[in-house]
Amino acid sequence: MRNFTYYVPTEVEFGKDTEHKVADLIQKHGGHRVLVVYGGGSAQKSGLLDRIYKRLEDAGLEYQSLGGVKPNPTVDLARKGVEQAIAMKADFILAVGGGSVIDTAKGIAHGNANPGTDIWDFWTGTTNLRQSTPVGVVLTIPAAGSETSASAVLTNTEIGQKRGLSSEFNRPVFAILNPELTFTLPLYQVACGITDILMHTLDRYFVPEEDNETSDALAEALLRTVIRNGTIAIKNPQDYQAMSELMWCGSLSHNSITGLGSRGDWAVHQLGHELSAKFDVAHGASLSAMWKFWALYVYQVNPRRFARYARNVWAVDAGRDDEQTALASIEATVAYFKSLGMPTNFKELGIGTLGDAELDELAYRCTYFGARTIGNFMVLDQKKIRDIYS
Ligand code: NZQ
Ligand code: ZN
Repeated sequence: MRNFTYYVPTEVEFGKDTEHKVADLIQKHGGHRVLVVYGGGSAQKSGLLDRIYKRLEDAGLEYQSLGGVKPNPTVDLARKGVEQAIAMKADFILAVGGGSVIDTAKGIAHGNANPGTDIWDFWTGTTNLRQSTPVGVVLTIPAAGSETSASAVLTNTEIGQKRGLSSEFNRPVFAILNPELTFTLPLYQVACGITDILMHTLDRYFVPEEDNETSDALAEALLRTVIRNGTIAIKNPQDYQAMSELMWCGSLSHNSITGLGSRGDWAVHQLGHELSAKFDVAHGASLSAMWKFWALYVYQVNPRRFARYARNVWAVDAGRDDEQTALASIEATVAYFKSLGMPTNFKELGIGTLGDAELDELAYRCTYFGARTIGNFMVLDQKKIRDIYS
């Protein structure tokens, strides 16, 4: 087991009607002037935003709001939010929505605490992030896991780059998780969320380290739970029990706990981010479209690891050697994505067949213009990345 630090300070309020506690939680975490950030309208339509505003008013909290966050959120809108937050002297940022809204709120929080710095500099690493503003979350989709995660992902449309920032300052101070708030989700978003939760666990599971009994066992339990409840939720997205499990797994899958003691891999996420940056495809869909090609390319590094995944997660045992069982696990995963209606190749993702120049460019961008490799299970350079994309 490798050394690790585990510090997850997010206070979680889980269950029915928990959004009613929003004002108390903001006050408990020192907020007086709140910038409420939301998305394209689902939280307005469902009446959730009005309920939240009422709670803030009743508690005597000052607030303003910023809507219009889109999936694959942009640094531009976050910059606009920074200006608004500074102008209103905000001391708390409240995200009402999914990963895109939460990541925008995190960007605003960082900019608000560091006036004069362009927030994209934190994402490129040009400037170190040393302070931020507290962020609280009312979650409406079990998916990205940003409500407890240490990361935030924004897209800079000027240079066509989607990039994650990893920092302990990204952990929200509280997260309200009411599964009923997800009942208005379109099926496609439910499926994208299930895929992302699985991938947050798989990107931590397929690693070189094999001496992490606790982390591996937690990961396998989480994967089995998501697979079982995902099948129920995709048939009935208003199944409270199934959505509860998914919502809690969404947070646990990305609060670091299933990856403690190892370095993580994250290649599939990086491969997917380039697709989202270029084609604006949903995050979950970018992952399901890439996973099979990554898995088939890398599994021979350690077929035993994939065979363990087959046996412990899918209860699949080809009864032959590990290699056959490993391949069976890849088939089972792809069949599951298909059962959710998720794309498993570029055509199904709706981006057709890409030409050589486009594939070269994707691979080059994935290396941050030649500056890095990705992955740890197998370290992937630009050539290998290009092979996987093709
Ligand atoms: O904008 P609205 O109208 O709210 O609609 C959203 C959006 O269209 C809709 N939605 C959310 N809750 C709803 C709802 N519609 C009806 N009823 C509800 N209750 O769902 C759509 C997708 O929302 P989004 O926030 O984009 O989804 P998700 O949570 O999957 O977030 C995806 C983003 O998070 C990033 C992704 O790359 C992507 O940009 N990620 C963030 C991570 C992190 N910060 O830790 C980790 C992830 O790996 C991921 O990269
Ligand atoms: Zn993800």
